[in-house]
Amino acid sequence: MPGAIYAEGLVKTFGDVTALNGVDLDVPEGSVLGLLGPNGAGKTTAVRVLTTLIKPDRGKAVVAGIDVLRKPNDVRHAIGLSGQFAAVDEYLTGRENLRMVGRLYQLSGRDAKARAGELLERFNLAEAADRPAKTYSGGMRRRLDLAAALVVSPPVMFMDEPTTGLDPRNRQALWEVIQELVAGGTTLLLTTQYLEEADHLAHDICVIDHGRVIARGTSDQLKARTGGERVELVVHEREHIAPALGVIRAFGKGEPTVEEHTRKVIVPVSGGAKLLAEVIRELDGRGIEIDDIALRRPTLDDVFISLTGHAAASDEPGPDGSASGADGSGADGSVELKEEVAGP
Ligand SMILES: Nc1ncnc2c1ncn2[C@@H]1O[C@H](COP(=O)(O)OP(=O)(O)OP(=O)(O)O)[C@@H](O)[C@H]1O
Ligand SMILES: [Mg+2]
Repeated sequence: MPGAIYAEGLVKTFGDVTALNGVDLDVPEGSVLGLLGPNGAGKTTAVRVLTTLIKPDRGKAVVAGIDVLRKPNDVRHAIGLSGQFAAVDEYLTGRENLRMVGRLYQLSGRDAKARAGELLERFNLAEAADRPAKTYSGGMRRRLDLAAALVVSPPVMFMDEPTTGLDPRNRQALWEVIQELVAGGTTLLLTTQYLEEADHLAHDICVIDHGRVIARGTSDQLKARTGGERVELVVHEREHIAPALGVIRAFGKGEPTVEEHTRKVIVPVSGGAKLLAEVIRELDGRGIEIDDIALRRPTLDDVFISLTGHAAASDEPGPDGSASGADGSGADGSVELKEEVAGP
């Protein structure tokens, strides 16, 4: 059975820009999908299609069991949306904005008032609640918009870069709200540039670039694809690279790589901090002086770079001018990650 958010072969072009180039998604009910991708990848376009704001050129989408193309009005009643750009009424106060949304969703006047009060507290807006929104800072606006999306809790929510521009405390507060929502059974599609955020909140992650899904899986699966843990060490003198390699080969789980100019040796390992201590003892015992040594676990940023050839917040294509990830790719260029590749 398809999940609460389902899409098949979505294509959307704007003139000669292909914003979506055959996107498939399937988000099980009660779970969070993190849609990751650099600027211009197609994240907002996907959200706009799924929330009925624009029509795809091709493909199929079903949200909360309702066909998005055939019954957009019914879909609108079943979803909540917080867009990338806050949609608040500038001339109303924060409190009025939230009460208005409550009334639009047919809450009673009393319930709308109570809900507005709760959300203003929750999003640290109580003090500014009775000022017009046009006097709010960017982060305050964003929080008001998020609060507006949460006035009622629809079964399916879409949040387009919900924490962009929030300070760490408010980001944390939003993460908590999201976790509560999901514990209550809400299905959420969240787009983000913050890989840490997807790591923290999302059950599944879908990486898109140039309108295509280039990888999907859990955060652990994506990291395993990049190649588990590694030890990185910098020897003090270039002559020590060769003996260091001799030592580290014995501990590694694969062939070490060397960056001559930085005197850095990198080797994939498993065994964590204990292994690191042994490596240090062995190097020390042989009189190999090191400037730096660290155990590195791949971050989602590393995953992103290895998949796309560029960092998440960049517009630049990879060095070869296209998305990489050719190794292990399916016929459609995407990589499906299975549990058995989850590595050490
Ligand atoms: N209304 C539009 N008219 C023309 N081009 C558009 C329109 N909307 C999006 N695009 C183009 O489609 C592509 C995907 O845009 P989209 O907004 O979906 O990216 P995004 O992944 O949300 O990026 P960001 O991280 O910057 O928000 C971009 O090349 C963008 O310029
Ligand atoms: Mg966007």
